[in-house]
Amino acid sequence: MQAQWTAIDQYIESFLIAPDPRLEYASAQTDASGYSNHLAVAPNQGMLLQMLVQMNQAKRVLEIGTYAAYSTIWLARGLPTDGYLLTIEGRDTHFKLAQNNLAAAKMPVEIDLRLGRAAEVLRQLPSDTPAFDLIFIDADKQSYAEYLQLSLNYSRSGTLIILDNVIRAGDIINPRNHKPSIVGLRDCFATLQNHPRLLSCTALQTVGCKGHDGLALALVK
Ligand code: DHB
Ligand code: MG
Repeated sequence: MQAQWTAIDQYIESFLIAPDPRLEYASAQTDASGYSNHLAVAPNQGMLLQMLVQMNQAKRVLEIGTYAAYSTIWLARGLPTDGYLLTIEGRDTHFKLAQNNLAAAKMPVEIDLRLGRAAEVLRQLPSDTPAFDLIFIDADKQSYAEYLQLSLNYSRSGTLIILDNVIRAGDIINPRNHKPSIVGLRDCFATLQNHPRLLSCTALQTVGCKGHDGLALALVK
């Protein structure tokens, strides 16, 4: 099935996703640096992120897990010129790659790239930090429940929280899989369930060039 999923993603891309040299550069640099582009969102998923920023008329976006900044560029594409994007990366190798890709992209919005463990960076934000309008969680899966709780501290009514990679080719429901990442994702589902701060929440499975995975969406009450 993977070949067909990839071919269909290419079909979608050929009609709907115009090439953007800033994104192509970021992908090429990821490959050239010996990192895997498989961890980046697919182009059609990136476009969905851009559209969710636009649909929520977001001005302030938080991204937890920058990696090569490919998704960062997509999120920034949806922001107005007075927009602000805070993106946090925990690994200094990935941080340097992201720094280079963002410097080359010259996005017309403020992008605040920070190196550090996201939970620490978030806990150290000034207490008067205005709420984010959209939050994209795409870092180490074992910490998703913690990232979700911390994200809620910087959310307002209407903030949209998006969580990447919540299905992991079905590992999420495999009772023999006890990897910390999968256990973390299950904790995250349990945290999302009937959360008093959430108005509504769902998750969607996805297939495509990145395999079988999925994303969760949570709307803050
Ligand atoms: C992995 C992480 C991601 O964020 C992703 O989108 C795909 C894969 C991983 O760690 O394997
Ligand atoms: Mg991801």
